Amino acid sequence: MKNEIVRCECVDMAIDGTGIAKSGDLVVFVKEMIKGEIADVKITKEKKSYSYGIIDRLIKQSPERMVSDCPIAYKCGGCDFRHISYDHQLELKKEILANILKPFTVLDIIPDENHYYYRNKVQIPYRDGKMGFYRKYSNDIVEFADCLIESETANHIIEELKDLLKDHPQAAMIRHILIKQNHDHSELMLGFIVWKKIDLSDIIAVLVDKYPSIRSIILNINEKESNVILGEEEILLYGEPFIIDEFHGIRVKISLKSFYQVNYRQMLKLYELIRQLSDCDINSRVLDLYCGIGTISLYLTKTAKQVTGVEIVKEAVNNAVENARMNGIDNIDFILADASKGMDRYLKEKDIVIVDPPRKGLSKELIDSLIGHDIPRIIYVSCNPQTLARDLKLLENAYQIDEIHPVDMFPYTIHTECVVRLSKRIEAKKENI
Ligand SMILES: C[S@@+](CC[C@H](N)C(=O)[O-])C[C@H]1O[C@@H](n2cnc3c(N)ncnc32)[C@H](O)[C@@H]1O
Repeated sequence: MKNEIVRCECVDMAIDGTGIAKSGDLVVFVKEMIKGEIADVKITKEKKSYSYGIIDRLIKQSPERMVSDCPIAYKCGGCDFRHISYDHQLELKKEILANILKPFTVLDIIPDENHYYYRNKVQIPYRDGKMGFYRKYSNDIVEFADCLIESETANHIIEELKDLLKDHPQAAMIRHILIKQNHDHSELMLGFIVWKKIDLSDIIAVLVDKYPSIRSIILNINEKESNVILGEEEILLYGEPFIIDEFHGIRVKISLKSFYQVNYRQMLKLYELIRQLSDCDINSRVLDLYCGIGTISLYLTKTAKQVTGVEIVKEAVNNAVENARMNGIDNIDFILADASKGMDRYLKEKDIVIVDPPRKGLSKELIDSLIGHDIPRIIYVSCNPQTLARDLKLLENAYQIDEIHPVDMFPYTIHTECVVRLSKRIEAKKENI
């Protein structure tokens, strides 16, 4: 019953990071409870076959429990595991992945040794004079002074903006602030996502003077009532419409609308892992689906014969083409297309296919195309283990699932990136002949 106190033992972790606790036959999802802990739990909500609860009193505490070092932990929707030691987070994340990806074997997670201030992109909603993160499962804005996973410069700029926008006549037109930085923080892009065109010249003058790393300020106009953050129209307010970063000796331009991995240190490991698992050599013809600004494609050109990247966002493809030119790489081409359909013609005579889709995973059409071609090696990079599990089950008749390597791109959150190596089954090859 609601408000009842029940003594429970946490027996597992749910995929959103809450503890799954049991008291006899009663199953309770308990916020911030860690596997192995025993607690008196207050029931907050009852469903037919399970309940939700919060810890009223901890009876047996996990040795891996820590006091959170973030003043807004669990108020904002950012981190899920601020109360758990980093090493134990990795163990729990691996168990959660293994449960979702059963029967496939999941290897140990590649850790981020320095797991603070790791994000190079911050996206902050602004409403009614408040700037912060959304509370979990809500549209309430939780303000913060120092987010421990965003970059420190971004934290300072957000604090500065809170002041500058107070009483500013145009402030009500702002919907989101977006900040992107390169890895050594020498270049910063600031995006104002607004309902309609506004004049921010006074604010820009102050920011540019105070933060010399600002290379780009863009006004992005989004008049639509939806949860898609960026609109179509962009106006360059200062500098250039991109920032430049460098990874593994390759320089890349990143624009406001283009995807770029948020954790640079782990991105280096992720790309090297992809290269190694792909067995890419001088004879390899590679197709990189969902290629963004072409980072994986560009990295693989160092060993491959030829690489083709496919991406749906026009600005990202423009960046990718320019990135190849800027680095003097010519065994590469990029195609602006929807990778979920019509890929048969690009799959012909490919030795390696990389797929790195958004959270919804691969389309049935693309999976059928992959099954229909004799691709010796597929590398599936996924940020959503649930759609990955679904897709691997569809692919496994034709492709053997060799290895699943998780990479901790998002410390303190429940999220993990997985890199999976698949090899065409010999029997499946014969059937296709
Ligand atoms: C997870 S990101 C990966 C990008 C890139 N591989 C990287 O490491 O930076 C997914 C990319 O897929 C693109 N995308 C989303 N839907 C797509 C589609 N239907 N066809 C092609 N690209 C798509 C997104 O714009 C984004 O750049």
